[in-house]
Parts: sequence; C-alpha cells; structure tokens
Amino acid sequence: MIDIHSHLIPNIDDGSQDISHSIAQLKLMEAGGVNGLFLTSHYFRGHYHYSREEYDKRKNTLVEAAKAAGIGIKLHSGFEIFVQPGIVEDIKEKNLTMGDSKYILVESELNGLPSDFYANVFPLLRAGYRPILAHAERYVSMMKKPNRAREMNDKNIYVQTNAGSLLGLYGEKVRQTAWIMIENGWSHFLASDDHVRGDYQVMFDAHQLICERIDKHTADLLCHDFPGMIANGENVPYTYVHVHRPRKHHRRSFFRRLFG
Ligand SMILES: [Fe+2]
Repeated sequence: MIDIHSHLIPNIDDGSQDISHSIAQLKLMEAGGVNGLFLTSHYFRGHYHYSREEYDKRKNTLVEAAKAAGIGIKLHSGFEIFVQPGIVEDIKEKNLTMGDSKYILVESELNGLPSDFYANVFPLLRAGYRPILAHAERYVSMMKKPNRAREMNDKNIYVQTNAGSLLGLYGEKVRQTAWIMIENGWSHFLASDDHVRGDYQVMFDAHQLICERIDKHTADLLCHDFPGMIANGENVPYTYVHVHRPRKHHRRSFFRRLFG
C-alpha cells in the first residue's frame, strides 16, 4: 500500500507536533502493509508558507529518524497546495511536486469551490503539471453534485478520496459522496490525510470496505497501483472503470407474452 496524502513532518503545518508521534505512526503503517508514503505538508501562502530548503531539512530529519528506528517505508516528498491566483509561480520556483513526478496535490475552499477555481488550475495543466484534488468529497459543491468529480476528470484533474470519508468520519453526506465517486470510478486515489491525531487503522478498514462493496482489484488500484504510478512518474489513466449497473428487469405481462 502506498499512501499519497499525509501530514507526518513535525511542526511545519497542522499535522504531527512531535517526531516521536510520527515514528510511532510510521510503525503502525508499516505493520499494516504500507511501504510508501508521500509527506504532503500544507503549502498555503500567508499561512503555511516556507522555503523548499526548510521543507527538505524537516523532511530529512524525519527520514533519518525513521531509518534509525528500522522503518522501511519509502518516504517521498510532497505538498498539499492551496490553489490561489499565481500559485503556479511558487510550484515552479520551489518544485512543489510529488516526489520527482509532475503530479501535484491541490486543495481549495471546503465550503464551496471558488468561481476562479478552474481559472487558477488551468495554468497548472498548461505548465505540464498533473493536479490531484485532495479529499474531493469534502467540498460542499461536490456533495451537492457529485458528478462534478467526473467533470474534473474530463478536465484532466485527478480526484483523491480520504479513507475516513468512506467510514463516515466527516459525516453522512461526505460518506455518501465519497462512495458515489469511488463506485463510478471518478476517484483515483484512496489516502489517509493522516494528521497523527487518530488511528491509522482507518486506512486499512477503508481498503477492506472497498474490497467488500466493490472488489479487491479496485481497492488495490486506489491504494497501491495508481499511487505507485505517481512514485514512478507514470501516467495514471483518467478513466479506468465503467460500472455496469444492472438494468431493471421488466416482466412482460401475460397478454403481451400471449399476443406480443
Ligand atoms: Fe491534507
């Protein structure tokens, strides 16, 4: 399993506040089968605004501590970038990508995607980046109209779903929206968005639920295969599944069968 969204680097955002907590969480992750993790600290001008050097320094401290603790998880760099006008300049200048790839994890206003959302994302696409919208199901706009996720796919924007959403940890509406996205194949990645506050078991439980409600193939695509393609700099398909919904079987009436 490869988790593409986490806040384990201590004291850089609202995630982990202590390296010992991060190490304890990494041990739980590894015990459950995680072998790759993207350390996607928030990047938000004016709030979580740092230099690439500062990020790398803090990331390396965690990597060294993990090595000393005998943890074998491959730790990749990453950022959860708040979409703002002109953000493409920061991304270029600081190379705010996922590992060595062109993928970038982005987020926006949860209480409603702003009207200039696409106007700010299109320059990222034109610059060759591959944006992934973090926890798409948590946006009010998406809850109102979940097939906006498909519209995003059509515009070459990938979708990531939080494990906790599938379990109902953000409320019933978010839970329903997350399942609609997963069942229709509009979401490409399942990730923890772990802030080292709760139990990492949520990620494993969500994987198991997808196995039960859909199938293991889909669960593995979202938790392993597609995340692995980010790590390798490969192209994840925007469309990967077509769910055949069973058609309602209308029984022909006795007279229709007799005369029709
Ligand atoms: Fe996050």
